[in-house]
Amino acid sequence: RPRVLSGIQPTADSFHFGNYLGALRQWVDLQEEHQPFFFIADLHAITVEQDPKVLRQRTLRAAAQLLAMGIDPDRSAIFVQSQVPEHAQLGWVLQCLTGFGEARRMTQFKDKSAKGGEGAASVGLFTYPILQAADILLYRPAYVPVGEDQRQHLELTRDLAQRFNSRYKKTFRLPEPYILKATAKITDLQDPTSKMSKSASSPSGIVEMLDEPNVSAKKIRSAVTDSGSEVRFDAEEKPGVSNLLTIYSALTGREIPDLEEQYAGRGYGDLKKDLAEVVVDFVTPFRARTLELLDDRTYLTEVLRRGAEQAGAVAAGTLRDVYDRVGFAAAG
Ligand code: TYM
Repeated sequence: RPRVLSGIQPTADSFHFGNYLGALRQWVDLQEEHQPFFFIADLHAITVEQDPKVLRQRTLRAAAQLLAMGIDPDRSAIFVQSQVPEHAQLGWVLQCLTGFGEARRMTQFKDKSAKGGEGAASVGLFTYPILQAADILLYRPAYVPVGEDQRQHLELTRDLAQRFNSRYKKTFRLPEPYILKATAKITDLQDPTSKMSKSASSPSGIVEMLDEPNVSAKKIRSAVTDSGSEVRFDAEEKPGVSNLLTIYSALTGREIPDLEEQYAGRGYGDLKKDLAEVVVDFVTPFRARTLELLDDRTYLTEVLRRGAEQAGAVAAGTLRDVYDRVGFAAAG
């Protein structure tokens, strides 16, 4: 079975609908016919300052949410990045293969360092995409399920894989991004031309998976809609309504033209009211299941330990090849 790999940062108390619809739902689906490795990217999280206690809590919350949404630890290795040291080790080797200018072209660094200025950003934030390349290449996956914002990092990953393979010996598989067009960029409910983002969106612009269901419902009902009154998918002219239709369609499995027809001659208000109900029905059991899992820390820790063991075995094999090929002396 082909491998898939992906990661998510534990930088919020809850995942949001962008994470879920853009990536995590595909993680769950891909489990069926692939061999999955899914991890919580705590090494990536510390590229910006984190409170240690909060980081630890959020890591466990992330694990609980992944299980609650249907990641099955008997099929998927789920693990915490820092528990598999090969990520950082391969990261170093790949940093030495990356051009400074090449790293500079990564747009996420430009966006994320824009606020405090480049001088205030950590070097880790700058080299972040190279660590991401290491995360991926260690497992030689066929697919990496992510949202649109990760596409550039996947391109860098492929470039580095190819460079290593041609400089030394074929070692890495070139991974394909797995990005579903319909949900590749879920946008902010209050600012529907920007992506829904834990760092950039206002609380009312984000639907959190773990919000109280009535809070989520309220956010949907107060989403910004567009001028006019016709419920029609048009990302250019009607970004707000189109985003709501995307979420509606993704959660119910109903096609967008079908929804457009249902709301023909009705207003945005009806659409929002119905979607709010769909969202409540979806988040209520998810939230309950996550909270239940969070009550059993022993189980969560055990799942993560097992995941790290499975991942570590694969990662160690790849790193051994890499160290050998770059010319590091064998440890005897
Ligand atoms: P992160 O933690 O920011 O987000 C996790 C996943 O959610 C997707 N996503 C979205 N998709 C659609 N619409 C949105 N508004 C939206 N917001 C977030 C992201 O594309 C991502 O797939 N660098 C990664 C974490 C990472 C990783 C990796 C991913 C580290 N190493 C290796 C894949 C492979 C990140 O910060 O994702």
